Amino acid sequence: MHQPVTAKSDAYGASLLGRLDELAVFSEVEGQLTRRYLSPAHLAANRQVAAWMQAAGLRVWTDPLFSVFGRYEGRRPNAPAIMLGSHLDTVLDAGRYDGALGVLAAIAVVAELSRRGERLEHAVEVAAFGEEEGSRFPTHILTSSALIGAVGRDLLEGRDRDGITVSAALAAAGGNAEAHLDCGRRPGEIAAYLELHIEQGPVLEARGLAMAAVTGINGSQRLAVTVSGTAGHAGTVPMVQRRDALTAASEMVLALERLAHSEATLVATVGQIAALPGAQNVIPGKVAFTIDMRSPCDDVLARAAKALALELEQIAARRGVHLEAATYQTNAATPLSPVVITAVLEAIAACGHTPLSLPSGAGHDAGIMARHCPAGMIFLRCKDGISHNPAEAITAEDADAGVRALLEATRRLDGRLAGNQTP
Ligand code: GLV
Ligand code: MN
Ligand code: MN
Repeated sequence: MHQPVTAKSDAYGASLLGRLDELAVFSEVEGQLTRRYLSPAHLAANRQVAAWMQAAGLRVWTDPLFSVFGRYEGRRPNAPAIMLGSHLDTVLDAGRYDGALGVLAAIAVVAELSRRGERLEHAVEVAAFGEEEGSRFPTHILTSSALIGAVGRDLLEGRDRDGITVSAALAAAGGNAEAHLDCGRRPGEIAAYLELHIEQGPVLEARGLAMAAVTGINGSQRLAVTVSGTAGHAGTVPMVQRRDALTAASEMVLALERLAHSEATLVATVGQIAALPGAQNVIPGKVAFTIDMRSPCDDVLARAAKALALELEQIAARRGVHLEAATYQTNAATPLSPVVITAVLEAIAACGHTPLSLPSGAGHDAGIMARHCPAGMIFLRCKDGISHNPAEAITAEDADAGVRALLEATRRLDGRLAGNQTP
């Protein structure tokens, strides 16, 4: 029987950070990390990760939506798999750990199993998903959704800022949107899903802890809003006669902020906004913006969506502008699996760390996978809780602890799912 390694070290951590640095070079923009789904940088990162999977002893393939998978067989051929993974796409001007950490740590785990010649009751699959962020197309958590058969035509017809649909981008990259159903996994094929991810918040650091088991993923709702007024001359139209789409939209943004403050668990963000025609001497005739609302409680989200719709309509009516608001993605709050949470808590303790349980304010592929199989996550401390920002940072010691805990949790999960409580 293996012994969990409790010694403090950065043996896995230093090489993991080295690879994360190497991967961060795959960017669309020089001098920053921007790796949107299906960009040449994303496809190149996929190829690099596939090569690392191969070198770790995995059988590798890419599915029609460009998720990359690697499989390490268990003691019996074709056994159900414990899937470890995360995503390789990034937000614009990203940090290098969000997503990539979970994929590269999973490869490190399998490389260690392979080095030891250790086979589990389950196969271990590593997954590198794409468009988790939704930074290119409107739909986020896209390619993991395909595994559970939750990608429909409407999602594939979503367009990026240049008007290119997901289907067209897939075809240009050599993929095949029509084959999205082939990405689906049969029930039982994946026995469990486990994702290591930076916390993206400040709780672990404040408590002086390295890791936590994630209890659930907050629900989210995304809306596209268009406000249409009348474009006009900035010097000649009296203030009282204007139908300025931007001042109306500004009032809507502040109404959203007030609404979020009025509910203890609600957060809301306008992250994209464009005023047209976008000239300094033209009254904006049209404004398009996005709304991202999240809460651990679906009732709060539903109540907020209703209140928001009413407020936006009132502002539009008072200012004489036309309003279109469409919800284009809703993800219900998702509890994670008790069996995975238990394995993670035990693994953190077995690796010599104090375990903690935390909910996730961010969305994750684990939230989608939880609709298909028992799913869980390990959160790793990150500097100042900063994420979606190039200043994201973790230490080599914590990275090391993350790999050890992921390996240990995988073994424990293997034992629990195989009916053996104490692996
Ligand atoms: C992904 O990072 C999300 O929560 O938007
Ligand atoms: Mn992420
Ligand atoms: Mn993210």
